[in-house]
Amino acid sequence: MSKLLVLYDSQTGNTERMAEAVAEGARSVPGVEVEMKYYARPEELAEADAIIFGSPTYYHEMTLPIKQMLEEAAKAGVSLKGKIGAAFGSYGWSGEAPEQVLEILQNKFRMKTIGQPPINVLYQPKPEQLEACKKLGKSIAEQIAKK
Ligand SMILES: Cc1cc2nc3c(=O)[nH]c(=O)nc-3n(C[C@H](O)[C@H](O)[C@H](O)COP(=O)(O)O)c2cc1C
Repeated sequence: MSKLLVLYDSQTGNTERMAEAVAEGARSVPGVEVEMKYYARPEELAEADAIIFGSPTYYHEMTLPIKQMLEEAAKAGVSLKGKIGAAFGSYGWSGEAPEQVLEILQNKFRMKTIGQPPINVLYQPKPEQLEACKKLGKSIAEQIAKK
């Protein structure tokens, strides 16, 4: 069974609603185990076939838990090369976080990133934006289910 991780942080629930939609879309694909949580150890990242990160933008950055998770994986030296990676998040005015995450997935971890530009939603996600999140999860799950 292929594994897909949805890892996210959310202080006021906006990115969390997006994460739920991404996971829901992914769960609609048979043969893919989907886990949605705040944190995964480096070994868990290495075991996944696809990793989708959700981070809101605070102080022009991804949030600390997301940054620390990526740093921990980098320090542990796990290989994520060639795995599928994507990012999404909610923001209020500048919205840097999802692009920052994608950049690291691509350039540091050499993951195969999907979704450029990433789904970045102003404050609360609207129904059509949640639909786009579902589509993203589904499309990534379909890609790893085919493996
Ligand atoms: C203290 C604070 C700092 C913030 N800094 C930024 C920022 O630098 N850029 C931005 O686009 N939004 C910023 N925001 C807005 C949040 O990204 C926005 O409220 C978002 O919807 C929060 O998502 P969440 O509910 O998943 O935590 C900030 C919000 C707070 C409360």
